[in-house]
Amino acid sequence: MTDYKKIIVTGGAGFIGSNFVHYVYNNFPNVQIVVLDKLTYAGNKANIASILGDRVELVVGDIADAELVDRLAQDVDVIVHYAAESHNDNSLNDPRPFVDTNFIGTYTLLEAARKYDLRFHHVSTDEVYGDLPLREDLPGKGEGPGEKFTAETPYNPSSPYSSTKAASDLIVKAWVRSFGVKATISNCSNNYGPYQHIEKFIPRQITNILSGIRPKLYGEGKNVRDWIHTNDHSSGVWTILTKGKIGETYLIGADGEKNNKEVLKLILKEMGQAPDAYDHVTDRAGHDLRYAIDASKLRDELGWKPEFTDFEAGLKETIAWYTANSDWWKGEKEAVEANYAKIQEVIQ
Ligand code: NAD
Ligand code: DAU
Repeated sequence: MTDYKKIIVTGGAGFIGSNFVHYVYNNFPNVQIVVLDKLTYAGNKANIASILGDRVELVVGDIADAELVDRLAQDVDVIVHYAAESHNDNSLNDPRPFVDTNFIGTYTLLEAARKYDLRFHHVSTDEVYGDLPLREDLPGKGEGPGEKFTAETPYNPSSPYSSTKAASDLIVKAWVRSFGVKATISNCSNNYGPYQHIEKFIPRQITNILSGIRPKLYGEGKNVRDWIHTNDHSSGVWTILTKGKIGETYLIGADGEKNNKEVLKLILKEMGQAPDAYDHVTDRAGHDLRYAIDASKLRDELGWKPEFTDFEAGLKETIAWYTANSDWWKGEKEAVEANYAKIQEVIQ
């Protein structure tokens, strides 16, 4: 149960935002949802089409449109803010939309939350903390205190994407302190699951194989990401929204560290490919080495725990979803790969 009657979910037609919209729709029948989404290349109405109707409305618009945001904010209790330009590689090519959406967009929403005294939850990323050394380079293999990100880790973002997310986190904190906005922040690690845009690592490799293209690994593939199923991200955000302490930051993660080569090998195996059927390509500029989340604050203080922690089983289901839903991604595949071909060369 919840007292919230009507919530705005920004970016609710994207990968993680649409998962959250389904989560709220399925679990809290008393809550009405207004999805505010610009439907950029990453947004897709199909992600929420099955539940649009009395309880879920889609408003196509920009979070940086102050007039629109003001109008929508007048009769809701909450803004849950997912909308963002989300892809590091795109931010290296063209940073401007990242500043406009991630920074100015967040500012615009905060001003509405301030004016109408709304509960605000800001969805952010572990990338604001920069990166950690690889475990193999640490004494004790990275198990000591301070060897995972916590809410106390200093901000040190690397890319235009992560720096604009860091900037957005900082103005949320300032609006809490200076104006009393009732906000919380979550910083989550790498999500996977169905409906993720095919520019991202896991769906790119799956849809490459389905399209007869060799998977592409940046550099040596040693970089580590801390994978969490997007269903667990949604339950984490809901827990913070309903039980979190105003002004606090909570990290969301499910102890899912794997390096990129390990993940790719699992995909190749599950899809019946030879273990070496992939290319090494030019590494990403400024490529973060390792992310790892210490989620004990969220677990211990708010009682959250992840449920979808069998990565291999989740990956299998994700592969099955992309295989069965080629209509969802096929139209975009050629353009996504043409874009990558401009910036990446095979190095082996
Ligand atoms: P996504 O790129 O799949 O979706 C982003 C959505 O935002 C799209 O529907 C897009 O149309 C919408 N959008 C973009 N600009 C907009 C604007 N100006 N106005 C309104 N809508 C706009 O992203 P995602 O992977 O689902 O990420 C969602 C959020 O979660 C982001 O804030 C991201 O930083 C954060 N996050 C992502 C991950 C991850 O692993 N993908 C991990 C931690 C945090
Ligand atoms: O940590 C959370 C972040 O995770 C989110 O804030 C971002 O929105 C989300 O995109 C993701 O960022 P990454 O840069 O980690 O994700 P990406 O899927 O782009 O890449 C994952 C890893 O795989 C990374 O080390 C780069 C590598 N990679 C990526 C692609 C697209 C490859 O080796 N080959 C590829 O083709």
